[in-house]
Amino acid sequence: MSTLASTTWPYPRWIAHRGAGRLAPENTLAAFRLGAQHGYRMFECDAKLSGDGVVFLMHDATLERTTSGHGIGGERPWSDLAQLDAGGWHSRQYAGEPLPTLANVAHWCIANGCHLNIEIKPTPGTELETGRAVAQLAARLWQGRDVPPLLTSFKPQALAAAREAAPDLPRGLLLDQLRAGWLDEARTLGCLAVVCNHALWSAATVAEVHGAGLRALSYTVNDEWAAERLIALRTDGIITDRVDLFPPA
Ligand code: G3P
Ligand code: CA
Repeated sequence: MSTLASTTWPYPRWIAHRGAGRLAPENTLAAFRLGAQHGYRMFECDAKLSGDGVVFLMHDATLERTTSGHGIGGERPWSDLAQLDAGGWHSRQYAGEPLPTLANVAHWCIANGCHLNIEIKPTPGTELETGRAVAQLAARLWQGRDVPPLLTSFKPQALAAAREAAPDLPRGLLLDQLRAGWLDEARTLGCLAVVCNHALWSAATVAEVHGAGLRALSYTVNDEWAAERLIALRTDGIITDRVDLFPPA
């Protein structure tokens, strides 16, 4: 796997959030397939650890909202999680859709020529082990491929652990506010990107990030006015639920 320089950015601007996680059940392969049908070639997803160390996709810490299970996903063995219905909550059409592992999704992305943004979403208290496990697995799954996955997290500890485990994988710091020292924090973590709530980008903050040689990405952009603003600001990546509204080209 090649090491990306900050001047090299091989990813498309448009990124489907949680697969195409509003039109199909988020973080399932069905959502990835639907995003690809709409022309998307890059996907964001949320990765965490099962109780026995399998990296799988789910946003919430608890199972209730998006699966047929109950309790904390990160406390259950993968053999239990693999039995859950992760699609029926969304609509009858997707009933029986399983939770995918990161390996399932990596194989699908590689087979379909798609890129992945893996948000490291640790169960609280597992930041270091989740960062390490996601990075180690991602490095193995994409070994020998030209374009590695982009690892992001709101948790600096998880990004630091990912950096130690797989220094060559590109990283992005997720921010829901521009806290004091945010750009230095991203640089100290060796990040190539800052991924912000889209409302935080202005001409000044984009210039700061670009001036530091980093990329400016936004989440989660679902209306045309916001998208036009971000394009005019020359931001580098837009994460959206609305694969039906925004053609990715
Ligand atoms: O990765 C960007 C975005 O997904 C972060 O927010 O809560 O949807 O994971 P959330
Ligand atoms: Ca996410």
